[in-house]
Formats: sequence, structure tokens, C-alpha cells
Amino acid sequence: MAKDVIIACDFKSADETIKFLDRLTRIRDEVVSCDDISIGAGRPYVKIGMEAFYAAGPELIKKLKERGHKVFLDLKLHDIPNTVKKTMQVLGEYGVDMVNVHAGGGIEMMKAAKEGLMLGAARYADKPKLIAVTQLTSTDQATLRDELLIDKPMADVVRQYALNAKAAGLDGVVCSAFEAADIHAACGDDFITVTPGIRFEDSASDDQKRVMTPARAREAGSDYIVVGRPITAAERPIDAYVRCKEEFLQG
Ligand code: C5P
Repeated sequence: MAKDVIIACDFKSADETIKFLDRLTRIRDEVVSCDDISIGAGRPYVKIGMEAFYAAGPELIKKLKERGHKVFLDLKLHDIPNTVKKTMQVLGEYGVDMVNVHAGGGIEMMKAAKEGLMLGAARYADKPKLIAVTQLTSTDQATLRDELLIDKPMADVVRQYALNAKAAGLDGVVCSAFEAADIHAACGDDFITVTPGIRFEDSASDDQKRVMTPARAREAGSDYIVVGRPITAAERPIDAYVRCKEEFLQG
């Protein structure tokens, strides 16, 4: 199964995003050859979230695809099945590589999302991956119990939501690296785990509560790690990116 590092480009505008990626790739082209195994050929896989997408829209996605990036469009759709299906069709037409929904929308909604996405992506040979958010990492056991009135342990809820996503035909879930092994055990090795909350041994945790290093995430079975500030806020982002790839892919 393909494993990769996805850079979370949490910038407010298309300009800032492109400026950052220009800086990253310009230095990259100077210091490493395209077939360097630690980086891989082509441009880095990037994640675009709601902030940048609502500010810059499809134009930004188009630009990133033209530049050769793989794009994970992290919009976490959650609505009635018909609306999600039609919206996913639009997103599929952009040629994105990965997109997501909230598993909390239910199996019918997730099935509709997949149908819409595949309709939109019909002309692309490489079909986009559709993954689900199980529970947000900002939701803790107390929130689950007191606000959502769910009495089950968080691990059971996350596992069940992952099973629902699999039943709907989705490719995987976004989860904590700490949950990756349990999800693979329940849903199979082919069911992908995309894990944020990644930090180097010597970097700040910022606002992330449960963090793991790239090497530990690999051991835990993560298929893709999503890394933001340890790369985007580094003095030399290219060094941080290369380090991340090396630790995650080679140990
Ligand atoms: O900067 P940092 O590495 O913490 O960025 C992590 C990225 O992953 C952010 O874009 C954040 O929104 C996203 N994310 C997360 N936890 C989740 C789901 C997404 O940190 N459960």
C-alpha cells in the first residue's frame, strides 16, 4: 500500500499557499534530484482545508493539480445524502486525490458521497480516495457522554464509525495514529488510516494533545501522516519535509 507524508497547508489564501510551496519546491529542486528515494518523484502531497478552500476555491485546487501536487481536500462534508452526493460530484470534477466526510452522517450519506464522487471523477483514471472522519480529536469522552449522549467508550465509537465507513464502501478514515492498529484489526490492512497529530521527537506539540513521531506512526500502521506546523513553520521547511519522509518511510 502507498504510504506518504501529506503537508497540511493551513494558509489563509492561495497566495500564501503557493508562496510556501514555491519556496519548498525551489529549494527542493536545488538540493535533491527528482528521483531521490527519500522524497520521491513529483511534488509533495498537500492537504487543503476549509479555510484555504473557502478563501481561494477551485482555482487553488486547479493550480495545485497543474503544478503536479496530489491534493487531499479536507472539507469534512456532513449533510443529507442528496446534498452530499451532488457536492461530491462537483469535488470529483476537480481531480482531487482524496476527500472526506463525517462518518457521523451515517452509512446512507457515505454511500451517496461515494456515488457522487465517482460520477464527478469519471474522466480520471486514478480515482480519488474517499475517507471518513470518525470522531474529531477535539471531542473527548466527556463531550461524547454529556453533549452527544453516547455512553460507549471512545475507542468503540471510533471503531464502529470506521466499520460503517467500510460498509459504505469508503477507502479509510482519518484517525489518531494511536487508533490505527485497532482500525486495521477491525477493518483490514487495505483500509487506509490517515493520521494527523504528528510531531518530531524534538518539536513543540502546539495544540495537539496526543502526538506521535513519524517513525512511531509507521510502526503503528499509519498509511498517510498529515503534518502541518512541524513543516510549514520550520526554518527550512524542505529539511523538515525530507526528515519526515525519511522517518516515516524508512524508520
Ligand atoms: O499543524 P499540525 O501538524 O497540527 O496540523 C494538523 C492538521 O491536521 C491540521 O490541518 C488539522 O486541522 C488536521 N487535523 C487534526 N486532527 C484531526 C483532524 C484533522 O489535526 N482529528
